[in-house]
Amino acid sequence: MTSTAPARILIVEDERLIRETLNAFIKAEGYSVVTAADGQEALQFLKTDSFNLVITDLKMPGHLQGMDVLRAVKEVSPDTAVIVLTAFANLAVGVEAMGNGAFDVLPKPWGDNGYVVWKIRMALESQRLVTENRFLKRELKERAEFKNIVGTSEPMRKVFDLIKRVADNSGTVLICGESGTGKELVARALHDSSPRRERAFVTVNCGALPESLLESELFGHMRGSFTGAVSNKEGLFEVADCGTLFLDEIGEAPLGIQVKLLRVLQKPEFRRIGGTRDIKVDVRIISATNKDLTKAVAQGAFREDLYYRLNVIPITVPPLRAHPEDIPLLVRHFLAVFGRKANKPALTVAPAAMQALQRNEWRGNVRELENVLERVVAFAPGTEITLDDVAQWVGAPSRGNEQKVPADIPSEGLDLESLINGIERELLVKALERSGGVKKDAARLLKLNARSLRYRLDKYEIKAGDGAGAGSEDDEGEEGD
Ligand SMILES: Nc1ncnc2c1ncn2[C@@H]1O[C@H](COP(=O)(O)OP(=O)(O)OP(=O)(O)O)[C@@H](O)[C@H]1O
Ligand SMILES: [Mg+2]
Repeated sequence: MTSTAPARILIVEDERLIRETLNAFIKAEGYSVVTAADGQEALQFLKTDSFNLVITDLKMPGHLQGMDVLRAVKEVSPDTAVIVLTAFANLAVGVEAMGNGAFDVLPKPWGDNGYVVWKIRMALESQRLVTENRFLKRELKERAEFKNIVGTSEPMRKVFDLIKRVADNSGTVLICGESGTGKELVARALHDSSPRRERAFVTVNCGALPESLLESELFGHMRGSFTGAVSNKEGLFEVADCGTLFLDEIGEAPLGIQVKLLRVLQKPEFRRIGGTRDIKVDVRIISATNKDLTKAVAQGAFREDLYYRLNVIPITVPPLRAHPEDIPLLVRHFLAVFGRKANKPALTVAPAAMQALQRNEWRGNVRELENVLERVVAFAPGTEITLDDVAQWVGAPSRGNEQKVPADIPSEGLDLESLINGIERELLVKALERSGGVKKDAARLLKLNARSLRYRLDKYEIKAGDGAGAGSEDDEGEEGD
């Protein structure tokens, strides 16, 4: 697949005949070409326009030489490729230009036009790979290993069916589901099974950035368009050209961004911030949310028109409690993954432990299960995971009254205050148990001074019992909280 918009090329050449020859045959190849007759003019273009490639002569009249143009390009727009033209006699200077970041040197005269076209293609391809590579690397870091979607239950099979059914087209997909259900995995699977799989899958979290930053991430900007815009920057829409753009947490997108997204969805072109040129793109949009968008629409927090544009193909990922029959499979999958990492291969699960895992509520869905198993693998002493190993994480009957720290915030939210109070109370009781009721020792265990321990015991109305040391001597040496 090639890019939809023709690549932009700037030719900087003082000799009119050469400039016009280059212009004519490069244009004939379908590229969009702009020409400049000297370094000064080139710099003007670089200020207001963005280019994929600059072809510049080295020796030019005026005080700006080709080397200056090269430096300016690398400063303003580091990802733009530069080819320098130079007479045979100056080839050594051309080599120096490559040291300054030029992609290649072309001799003048170059002989066959086809040779130049071939060099241009190589430069553009390498320019594309450089930008794409940066994103692929980021992505690689995120998916340390290929994560397949595990599940054979009816609800999950429905999801797989949908993925397969829409694999061949580029329709806009909206993935809904609670937090931790695997929405991002589904988005990647959609990309990986589409004809776009060879191109970039670009993720942007719409809830993670303030509006202005998010806008510049998505649409890019020109140097100087705002304080801090030190060089031209490609937007993620450009990076995802011919690929997929995954708008995660779309429900969190600020209204201003919603308007701009709607515009791109209606007509797939946009301008960089501070830019004057419309950039056409061919991007498949997949978005995801754990919010009820229809509610957000009703409340005026989400644009209705955008909702309909995004929700062309809806996919709902079920919460884990709707398919507990997949839990054993998921458990084995995660044990294999974490076991390998922890150098504990061939871990097995005792039936009682598996039952406890299957019975648990998993409000944080698969992510919570995954996190728990990572911890279980880290702490399990043997090669078989026992009920004891999992009990403390899943609130199994033996420790049922313990406060459970959720691995994630459930979609309906949580009561932070009471959760933390619960944990605090539990640890206070534990510390007293362990110290045989001696407050001084309990305080030391919790790295508290005696006064703040007492304050907390009072707060939770915990009786310290009558351990040997419990008494007034525990006030010694304390400082304020
Ligand atoms: N069916 C599954 N098989 C294997 N791993 C899964 C599955 N579902 C989820 N996971 C794992 O659980 C974690 C959470 O998944 P993911 O990030 O896709 O969830 P999400 O729905 O995007 O959550 P959030 O709304 O919080 O962003 C990931 O590490 C993912 O690999
Ligand atoms: Mg997600």
